[in-house]
Amino acid sequence: MQIRNYLEGFADREAALRKIAEVDETAFGEGFTEEELRSPIFGVLDDDRTFLAWDADQVVGVSANFSLDVSVPGGSVPTAGVSFVGVRPTHRRRGVMTAMLDILHADGLSRNEPIAALWAADAAIYPRFGYGRATRRLFTEIRRAHGALTNAPEDGSIRLRMMNSSDDYSLTHPIYSAVHASRGGVPAVDNRWHERQTWDPPSSREGASSLYTVVAEDDNGVRGFMRYNVKPEWTDSHDNGTFTIYRLMSRDPAAHAALWRYALTFDLMAKVKWFNAPIDDPVQLWLEYPRHATRQFEDALYVRLLDLPSAITARTFSTECDVVVHVTDSRFPENAGRWRIAGGPHGATCRQTKDPADLALDIRVLGAAYLGDASLSEFAKAGWIEENRPGTLGALDSALRTDTPPYCPFVF
Ligand SMILES: CC(C)(COP(=O)(O)OP(=O)(O)OC[C@H]1O[C@@H](n2cnc3c(N)ncnc32)[C@H](O)[C@@H]1OP(=O)(O)O)[C@@H](O)C(=O)NCCC(=O)NCCS
Repeated sequence: MQIRNYLEGFADREAALRKIAEVDETAFGEGFTEEELRSPIFGVLDDDRTFLAWDADQVVGVSANFSLDVSVPGGSVPTAGVSFVGVRPTHRRRGVMTAMLDILHADGLSRNEPIAALWAADAAIYPRFGYGRATRRLFTEIRRAHGALTNAPEDGSIRLRMMNSSDDYSLTHPIYSAVHASRGGVPAVDNRWHERQTWDPPSSREGASSLYTVVAEDDNGVRGFMRYNVKPEWTDSHDNGTFTIYRLMSRDPAAHAALWRYALTFDLMAKVKWFNAPIDDPVQLWLEYPRHATRQFEDALYVRLLDLPSAITARTFSTECDVVVHVTDSRFPENAGRWRIAGGPHGATCRQTKDPADLALDIRVLGAAYLGDASLSEFAKAGWIEENRPGTLGALDSALRTDTPPYCPFVF
């Protein structure tokens, strides 16, 4: 088996993309249409970071790295965004994905990307490769009949304006960038990502409307936006439509509440759904009848520290800490061993040491805690961390955790 750049062996890019579509269809049960192959979905694919696995003259696996810049506490970090991983069913469990991940990780390291991140099709797949669940998402469904908001701020100066989402970039990008700067887990997006996320051909709508954006603004400019579509449905002659939120971001609570009110009072829509809300979205506090809302917390972004010291020093800590951690890493011996992890709100250091270890843990634990969401004390209760010096577990926990939980706004 050989892993090669995806363009090798094909007459042109279109032919190579067609092969990706073919293999992904066998792996996922759904591929890409000709229209999708020529769409912005593939505009973000880096030609030199996309790979095919070959068994003799047959392509049996696909994978790619996106070049991402993911926010972390105190800044952002270049990230190998692992995606498109699929293996032909005839070649499963023979190490094809393992070999492709080795290539993707080496590719990330060669570009000075200290971490890799991905959305997993199945939570069981990636921990063995050193990934930890670094962000969670909230799936929520709120019925309009139970959608009254109490104690949500109101601001009469806010006006709402609608447009097709493909036209919203200049208005919404500053809001997105502010979120990128204020919480971990958010990949920076440029125009190519915007085109990918707002590409909305009628053939993919499955009975829903176009993708719209409604912005909340006042005389000083845009304060928030919501991307959504609506899908009408009639059940026994009453309306039973669905309002689906794809993105909701705002600068302040009043703008956020105005956008939620817009969704929760939309005529003919019986329910509002958002499959990827931040776990701290304030609607949970504003709902008069919160028990009637579906609130399901799911795993979202997985993170793998490829270069431990570079990853740690790329972020700041919430509180001061100075601990020696013994790290195991079965795939990257460079990360294994004893590290003195020290720092605070102004920056962090991570140096190899011969001092006795205060804590012992696997690299996946640091991946899970890296963006600020994980609770190390929970991990210790699960037997994933050994504490040799009392107090050091709490010290590292407080240092890595952030007040605002990390959030990845889109699947890649
Ligand atoms: C998931 C998938 C990519 C795995 O590819 P593969 O080539 O079979 O994986 P490997 O043979 O390299 O497996 C490596 C290890 O992961 C385990 N593993 C692989 N897929 C797994 C899964 N879906 N669930 C649990 N464990 C899995 C294997 O058992 C193996 O474990 P071992 O090292 O203890 O023997 C492939 O089965 C596939 O394409 N599935 C459908 C699409 C999909 O889910 N893609 C992932 C997108 S994020």
